[in-house]
Amino acid sequence: MKNFILTLLIMLVTCPMSACSDDSNNNITEEEQTDQQPDGNSNILVVYFSQSGTTRGVAERIAELTGADTYRILAADPYEGDGYPDSDRIQDEAYNDRRPGVANLPENLDNYDTIFVGTPIWWHYPAMVVCTFLDNYDFKGKTIIPFCTYGATTWMPQTIDKIKELTPESTHLKEFGSSGSTTNVEPWLKEIGIIN
Ligand SMILES: Cc1cc2nc3c(=O)[nH]c(=O)nc-3n(C[C@H](O)[C@H](O)[C@H](O)COP(=O)(O)O)c2cc1C
Repeated sequence: MKNFILTLLIMLVTCPMSACSDDSNNNITEEEQTDQQPDGNSNILVVYFSQSGTTRGVAERIAELTGADTYRILAADPYEGDGYPDSDRIQDEAYNDRRPGVANLPENLDNYDTIFVGTPIWWHYPAMVVCTFLDNYDFKGKTIIPFCTYGATTWMPQTIDKIKELTPESTHLKEFGSSGSTTNVEPWLKEIGIIN
């Protein structure tokens, strides 16, 4: 009950902010469509899902600072608007550990030895399309660096643990979380030794 009330509060706080954004799968621009597969220019990849653009902002800052390729996971059955209209679906997927389809799975990730994995926290867990993505590849021997955006930090440990759980044979570096600000991305990347 306490969790439910806390979640409702988070939604009330974050919903008006996200409602201003127009970055859902339904609204991706032509330019963004060309960015839906990793292009193999770097050995570092930033994989992320982002419904209303917040996680995308962090992903782009990581890419800007590291020169990494980016790849945005798109749901095969897109979510509505900023995600809140599909809250029941998203809760069902999270609480029942479902694996919604991904529209644009890359053929392989062979080029990449370091992979950032980013997600919004959705009903206390990563967006389950991120889990679908992770289930599709062997990350053995690769370095996985999780990051997330959220309304509140409460479920960040659980969200990060889920990403680690699905990549058991990888090396994991310290995660990053933010409610949208990218100010601390650079110090974090320095701390984990990705940039100088
Ligand atoms: C359906 C739904 C459920 C959410 N559940 C949580 C949650 O459990 N915990 C939390 O901190 N934030 C929650 N949020 C807020 C999002 O994590 C936050 O707005 C995030 O930055 C959105 O990222 P995006 O813009 O990349 O989609 C939820 C948002 C939506 C739409």
